[in-house]
Amino acid sequence: MSVSGNAPVAEIGVIGGSGFYELLDDAEEVRVGTPYGPPSDALMLGTVAGRRVAFLPRHGRGHRIPPHRINYRANLWAMRSVGVRRILAPCAVGSLRRDLGPGTIVVPDQLVDRTSGRTQTFYDEGAVHVSFADPYCEHGREALLKAAATAGIEAVDGGTMVVVEGPRFSTRAESRWFAAAGWSLVNMTGHPEAVLARELALGYATVALVTDLDAGIDATESVAQEEVFKVFAENTRRLRRMVLDAIGLLPGSGDFPAARALDGMTLPFDLP
Ligand code: ADE
Repeated sequence: MSVSGNAPVAEIGVIGGSGFYELLDDAEEVRVGTPYGPPSDALMLGTVAGRRVAFLPRHGRGHRIPPHRINYRANLWAMRSVGVRRILAPCAVGSLRRDLGPGTIVVPDQLVDRTSGRTQTFYDEGAVHVSFADPYCEHGREALLKAAATAGIEAVDGGTMVVVEGPRFSTRAESRWFAAAGWSLVNMTGHPEAVLARELALGYATVALVTDLDAGIDATESVAQEEVFKVFAENTRRLRRMVLDAIGLLPGSGDFPAARALDGMTLPFDLP
């Protein structure tokens, strides 16, 4: 199927691993073009808890696209063009705190951008300055935390995620610096995904699975890619459960702070 016209076909988006696909009974693949080029992959549309959902594997199926090469603008634009207004975004993170060991699930409430050279806005002309003081949607965070509590999954409420450029992991000095600043988690994909969602007036919340202690925290080991993938695979069941249950708990109303992010601004183009 390809999307024709502007008919909404989903209201909630999930940007995460391709593992979500297999849980949909009525999955339908949709290729969406955008002014920014193609998204990471086809969107998979389906129904979860009676809600229409669009899934997109952030790195493409088979994990083809590294974090610094993801077309974040195309991914967010594609979501909005199929009708999505709220996004849940699971991701893998390194921990900057010894008490948040591998396997810990965190619902961050703050973000620090340490990326460089990524296109991080849709607005290269005009005066469009979105508020980003609170980068994550409280509705999304609450739904994720409630879903965890109901399923008996321990999840940490809050924490600051610093997003690095990658694809390399951090040096010990960088990592110690991040930890000393009081930040909890480090990741390579959380930005500009979150701000581009805000720039399209989409509610966006992330849920982070700790796959490793970052280099400044673990004095002996450095972060190894195989370990990151292994721990992620071992924990996807819990993460998926949380995200799927959270979908059913998201409020249906289209009126929430991120939906008003562009109110009063003159946009250089029409939103999809
Ligand atoms: N993703 C998973 N573990 C990470 C780490 N230690 N640093 C950056 N991104 C990560």
